[in-house]
Amino acid sequence: MEPLLPELPTDTLQRVSSELRCHPTDEKVALHLDEEDKLRHFREHFYTPKMQDLPRVDLSLVNKDENAFYFSGHSLGLQPKMVKTYLEELDKWAKMGSYGHKVGKRPWILGDETITGLMTDIAGANEKEIAIMNALTVNLHLLLLLFFKPTPKWYKILLEAKAFPSDHYVIESQLQLHGLDIEKSMRILKPREGEDTLRTEDILEVIEKEGDSIAVILFSGLHFNTGQLFNIHAITQDGQAKGCFVGFDLAHEVGNVELHLHDWGDDFACWGSYKYLNAGAGGLAGVFVHEKHAHTIKPALVGWFGNELSTRFKMDNKLQLISGANGFRISNPLIFLVCPLQASLEIFRKATMKALRRKSILLTGYLEYMIKHYYGKDKTETKKSVVNLIIPSHIEDCGCQLTLSFSVPMKYIFKELEKRGIVCDKREPNGVQVSPVPLYNSFHDVYKFINLFNSVLESAEIKRKMSVI
Ligand SMILES: Cc1ncc(COP(=O)(O)O)c(C=O)c1O
Repeated sequence: MEPLLPELPTDTLQRVSSELRCHPTDEKVALHLDEEDKLRHFREHFYTPKMQDLPRVDLSLVNKDENAFYFSGHSLGLQPKMVKTYLEELDKWAKMGSYGHKVGKRPWILGDETITGLMTDIAGANEKEIAIMNALTVNLHLLLLLFFKPTPKWYKILLEAKAFPSDHYVIESQLQLHGLDIEKSMRILKPREGEDTLRTEDILEVIEKEGDSIAVILFSGLHFNTGQLFNIHAITQDGQAKGCFVGFDLAHEVGNVELHLHDWGDDFACWGSYKYLNAGAGGLAGVFVHEKHAHTIKPALVGWFGNELSTRFKMDNKLQLISGANGFRISNPLIFLVCPLQASLEIFRKATMKALRRKSILLTGYLEYMIKHYYGKDKTETKKSVVNLIIPSHIEDCGCQLTLSFSVPMKYIFKELEKRGIVCDKREPNGVQVSPVPLYNSFHDVYKFINLFNSVLESAEIKRKMSVI
């Protein structure tokens, strides 16, 4: 297989800095990397919030007219500029009412189907395996209704510890639907004592030992909190070898790292579109069902949008189910949710996931390098503040997001970052999540982040000495 990168991020930083005769932490390096970045113009396709519009910015510390530093793509992606144009559908509704179902650039009846093809590169799947529908949690329920058919022998669902609450509740409630004992049937996998992330070998060992009683493995592809990227291929292969159905919640992975769902042979997957896919809060979600199930697995809950278009409006109540994932659709899709997703997916189509992932590894690798340079273990003797990176040690084992934890109170750090116009995310009890997104973040953004972060930590150190935090 072709390597993801011609060289590791640290090697790139060393090479560029020696060409420029400076240290890798020098601003010149960031500016040079931006100059070389063939994807840099894509940031112009997005609106970046201005300092003056953010609620907790201290205008005495920043220039109000400048763009804020946005590192929160893992929470909500930025708005593509074409969204407003594509919301011309509002106008169409006003002007022609019900004729809009069938005419115009996006006949509403076909709204979601017109953009499914734009998801194939992102999901690594063919068009018939993808449906764009509902919201993520709803789809998780629908997929488990299909794939979780417990028997006295196969009755467990395997998931990671501290899975996203919605996934946890979905599994709990599905087990309850089948009258199963949650303690016995919900097999939760925890990291080893003293570790933050799960080791692949530990996941595979549980599958090997307990696979005979596991009906479904439902993992996230990338853990929302730690940022750990799971080895989907290995989990899928080993799980299926034991007879389990294997599926993934890819909310934090889709549009972030490359996926090959078809080739990996996953049974099912689903994702939301408001994080790296930039479709706005509550945007239309996606579903993948592998084509190998096209003739064997039918929707548990059927609606009229699962019916072939050619007979859907005959209203004769004789279901002609669409083969493939679109047969799992239930309702008429809301066209106003299709528009933002289309605007974003068109940008992805131009940028390509391969190129985005390459940039992402270098961009997040640069952030990791800078954090380690200023706060690595050898620095802690001289600097009191400790910053831990909660990621596996290989940069290819994470996506854009890094989760940092501190020896000083996180709430103070987060508040001070916000005052300086840095948009990132906090996770209780002590984490801050920072995601440089290759579509709209630059190397210079990361450089500026590190500088502001350093000044915030210095002030935290002074305040701690004075015992005021
Ligand atoms: C990993 C994960 N799963 C599920 C959800 C829930 O998504 P929705 O509100 O679209 O159902 C989220 C939302 O952030 C998430 O991050």
